[in-house]
Amino acid sequence: MRATSVVGTAIVATLFAAAAFVGCSNKHDSQGGSGNLGASASIRDLMKARGLTEADVEGALKTYVPTGKMDEYYIFASGGQSGNVNVIGVPSMRMLKVIGVFTPESWQGWGFGGDSDKILDQGNQGTHKIRWADMHHPNLSETKGDYDGQYLFVNDKANARVAVVDLSDFATKQIVANPLAASDHGGAFVTPDTDYVIETSQYPAPLGREYAPITEYKEKYRGVAIFWKFDRQKGRIDPAKSWAMELPPYTQDLADAGKLDSDGWAFINSFNTEMAVGGTLEGKPPIESGASQNDMDYLHVINWKKAEELVNAGKTKTIAGMRVLPMDVSGPEGVLTLVGEPKSPHGCDVTPDGKLIVVGGKLDTHTTLYDFAKMKTLIQEKRFEGKDAYGLPIMSFKDAISGQVEIGLGPLHTVFDDKGNGYTSVFIESTVAKWSYKDLKKPVEKLKVHYNIGHILSAEGDTVSPDGKYVVAMNKMSMDRFLPVGPLFPQNFQLIDVEGEKMRMLADMPIANAEPHYSQMIKADKLKPAKVYKPGTNATGEIDPARAEGGKERVERNGTKVDVYMTAIRSHFTPDRIEVDEGDDVTIHIDNIETAEDQTHGFTIDMYNVNVSLEPGKHENISFKADMPGTFPMYCTEFCSALHLEMAGYFLVKPKKH
Ligand code: CUA
Repeated sequence: MRATSVVGTAIVATLFAAAAFVGCSNKHDSQGGSGNLGASASIRDLMKARGLTEADVEGALKTYVPTGKMDEYYIFASGGQSGNVNVIGVPSMRMLKVIGVFTPESWQGWGFGGDSDKILDQGNQGTHKIRWADMHHPNLSETKGDYDGQYLFVNDKANARVAVVDLSDFATKQIVANPLAASDHGGAFVTPDTDYVIETSQYPAPLGREYAPITEYKEKYRGVAIFWKFDRQKGRIDPAKSWAMELPPYTQDLADAGKLDSDGWAFINSFNTEMAVGGTLEGKPPIESGASQNDMDYLHVINWKKAEELVNAGKTKTIAGMRVLPMDVSGPEGVLTLVGEPKSPHGCDVTPDGKLIVVGGKLDTHTTLYDFAKMKTLIQEKRFEGKDAYGLPIMSFKDAISGQVEIGLGPLHTVFDDKGNGYTSVFIESTVAKWSYKDLKKPVEKLKVHYNIGHILSAEGDTVSPDGKYVVAMNKMSMDRFLPVGPLFPQNFQLIDVEGEKMRMLADMPIANAEPHYSQMIKADKLKPAKVYKPGTNATGEIDPARAEGGKERVERNGTKVDVYMTAIRSHFTPDRIEVDEGDDVTIHIDNIETAEDQTHGFTIDMYNVNVSLEPGKHENISFKADMPGTFPMYCTEFCSALHLEMAGYFLVKPKKH
């Protein structure tokens, strides 16, 4: 049983007193009742009947948000292999939305014939139409190092892409496909004013993904960091103003941008400096063991402000249309410097003051704290202990760190509170370790989590001013926590109260659609999403030139090209009959002309894989070839009114004469 704090006991005691009072006054009302626990039962009876401890009741009281009341924070969680973002309210841990990003999402009509198809197509790689993602790290836009609630950036590890989600309508507006790397991991991390969204590669490959035999790994394979330039005015990444840095073929892992003292710098850790390439069928060791030989891998220390100057001065070469700063420039210029990292590092987190970079070690029991000021001096004074095979300077590990903290088995990621504490996820131990980064104290406390925690997040935790308050353990395994649902288990988010002296477990939330990697938590009052769209708004946020207006609905035919200008309003479509010839190129320009909030309509044409969601004011352009003759109902897929079932019509395709 968990210990109850003084505060917790006080809450529960007050509750008992109130319950006893209510119970007493209701006693005579329950005469002749069933004897079941109801409104008249005392809280103690309820606790006994449900087998709840005082800590359970405290958790319930701290997380329960009554109907009509709002949560205090939003979590934007990576949707992992679902390729979409999960939005969760805190402290209730209720799911608020799934944002369609890289993967078609049918409730939002995301990727089923409307304009969102064009956004998904921006993320196609080479000749492949890609419709899934392995989403890893959501990052909120920042102003002066604080979340500003405007945009969210996410990366796709599997297909090396970054997406921009606009938080004014919680919709994806852009996907940029990395032209250089074959996979990414360190991303999508923003610089403190969101000048850049950083995306760094994971598994090395020739830049531009050209073929090169694996025997030429050291010569031809490379890592890369892309600095995607974000145009805040337009709310889009500007690929033409973006640039990249060539990195050695050490498997780069996580990245973080510096802030305050370390603004203008970025940090990326790596593993497999052994450059192991596997070959299990040929009797060689797998990458797993080949990559675990060296005692040290390398933290990459990047002066991106100076790199930007070199890029602007034309010191780049162009690969796959992108300007790339080569290592033989960045090394000697002090723009890319390495420093050792203990065994199989993971996690790379800059402290709120920007002074320290915290790195965990999958096979090490410590977190290592790199001192930015010391590293900056070493780089300025060119005090290095050697060079790597690519001529990159290496700083002395001892001279670069301010210390190490003994954490436990498998420390991964660290987040921060407002009191100088770090909270590190400890994978093998299944714990959250709380420790002080101010005085490098050993864990002051450990809390068991369920189970095998990967990432961890805290309220506004990687800004210059974290809130403390809440930490969420993002557990990879849930084992015995939830009703069994077959061999694929849900993941488990656990909400932890970190306000008091001791950490307290408050609630579990099964994540049923994904393996979330990172997440971020932002104060709810920083977001002011729109409730309706301006009439005619399309998926890019513009007023569409082809918007349909009430009274101006029509069908225009030009040879085999048919344009339908259609409106939707409770509870009919105008027009509600469309007849075309087999082989016609059809575009339906459809507008929801409702102005009242929450009056969404859907539009589908059966059998044509067409499905859009039309929120009030929303415009969609749906283009397709009428290649299947027949009679197809079209209807509204959203229960919009009492006569929703009547919101329907017919799409008729007259067969060609053969
Ligand atoms: Cu419109 Cu149902």
